[in-house]
Amino acid sequence: MIRIGVIGYGYWGPNILRNLHGLDSAKVVGVCDVNPEAQKRAKHAFPDVPFSSDPSEMLRSPSVDAVAIVTPVWSHFELAKAALENGKHVFVEKPFTSNVVQAEELIELAEKRNLRIMVDHTFLFTGAVKKIRQLIDQGEVGDLYYYDSTRVNLGLFQHDIDVIWDLAPHDLSIMDYLIHNEPEAVVATGEAHLNSHADVAYLTVYFPEKTIAHINVNWLSPVKVRTTLIGGEKKMLVWNDLEADEKVKVYDKGVQMTSQEGVYDLLVSYRSGDMWAPKIEQTEALKVELKYFLDCIENDQKPFNDGVAGLRVIKLLEAAKESLKRRGEIVSL
Ligand SMILES: NC(=O)c1ccc[n+]([C@@H]2O[C@H](COP(=O)([O-])OP(=O)(O)OC[C@H]3O[C@@H](n4cnc5c(N)ncnc54)[C@H](O)[C@@H]3O)[C@@H](O)[C@H]2O)c1
Repeated sequence: MIRIGVIGYGYWGPNILRNLHGLDSAKVVGVCDVNPEAQKRAKHAFPDVPFSSDPSEMLRSPSVDAVAIVTPVWSHFELAKAALENGKHVFVEKPFTSNVVQAEELIELAEKRNLRIMVDHTFLFTGAVKKIRQLIDQGEVGDLYYYDSTRVNLGLFQHDIDVIWDLAPHDLSIMDYLIHNEPEAVVATGEAHLNSHADVAYLTVYFPEKTIAHINVNWLSPVKVRTTLIGGEKKMLVWNDLEADEKVKVYDKGVQMTSQEGVYDLLVSYRSGDMWAPKIEQTEALKVELKYFLDCIENDQKPFNDGVAGLRVIKLLEAAKESLKRRGEIVSL
C-alpha cells in the first residue's frame, strides 16, 4: 500500500483526496493546506485523515511514500523539488511548473533518485479522449486536418496565471496525446480586461503535414462551452464534454476535390454519410489516473503522463506567453 499525502485543499484538492481515499492501494496519511478554512472543510469531509498547515512536515516525514501537489502553479516547483529531495514520488497538478527550466530540473532530480513524477492531465483518462485516440489510431479519421476547441465559462479567475496557463493545458495535453507529430509553431492573442492576466485568449498551434489546432479559452463567457471539433480526411468528430451521453459523435462527412486542373475546373464533392455515437467508458477519470499513479510506483514503471509529457505542455505555454506579449507574432518551437 502506498502512503500518500495531499498538499492543497482548495477547489481541486478535495477531488484528489476523495479519489485516493477510495483506492485500496493507497493509504492517505495526511492532508495539508496553509489556509485554516481548508482545515474545517477537510475535517468535515474526512475526519479520519490528519490535517496539517505546514507542508514541510509531510515532505520530510519518513512515513510518506508519495505526495499529491494540488496548490497554485507558482508553488508546484518548490513543493515538488522538496518532495523529490526527500525521496517521495510526486503527483502534481497541471500545469507542471511555471517554466521550462523548473520542469527540466524536476525531471532530472526524479531521474537521479529513480522516483516517479505524474502530471495531472486528467482528460487523458476520460472515456471520450481514449475513444477519440482509438478512432484516430485505427485510421478511422484519416489524416488529421484540424483540432478546434472552445473551452469557455465565467471564471474561475486565477490569481497567478492567465487564462491560457489555466485552461489551455487541457487541450495541449490532449493534442500531445492524440496528434503523433511534434508542434512546430504557436500564435497567441488575447486581452486582460480585469487585471494584468489575459482573461480571453486564442491560441493557434501549427503541426507538420498541415495539421492545425485552434483553442479558444475565456473566463468571461456567460455560458460554459466544452466543445472540440476534430476534422480528418475520412471522418469528423464532435466532442461535447457537457453532454451526459453521446459525448463523442462521429460524422462520416468530408470533401473531395475531383479535378485539380485549374481553380475554375475544381469539382468539389461533399460526402454526407451517417453519424454515430460510440460507447464511452464512464469511470471517473481522476480515479483511473490516481490508480495508474499508484500502479506505476508499485511496478517501477514510467507513466505516459510523466514529467517529460508535462514539460512538452510547458514548452507550448512558454511559446504562447511570448507570442501573446508580442500581440500574436508567430513563435517557432
Ligand atoms: N486537473 C484538473 O482538471 C484541474 C482542475 C482544477 C484545478 N487544477 C489545478 O489544481 C491546482 C490547484 O487549483 P485550485 O483551483 O484547487 O486552486 P485553489 O486556490 O482553489 O486551491 C489551492 C489550495 O492550495 C493551498 N496552498 C497554497 N500554497 C500552499 C502550500 N505551500 N502548502 C499547502 N497548501 C497551499 C491554498 O491555501 C488553497 O487552499 C492548480 O494547479 C490548477 O491548475 C486542475
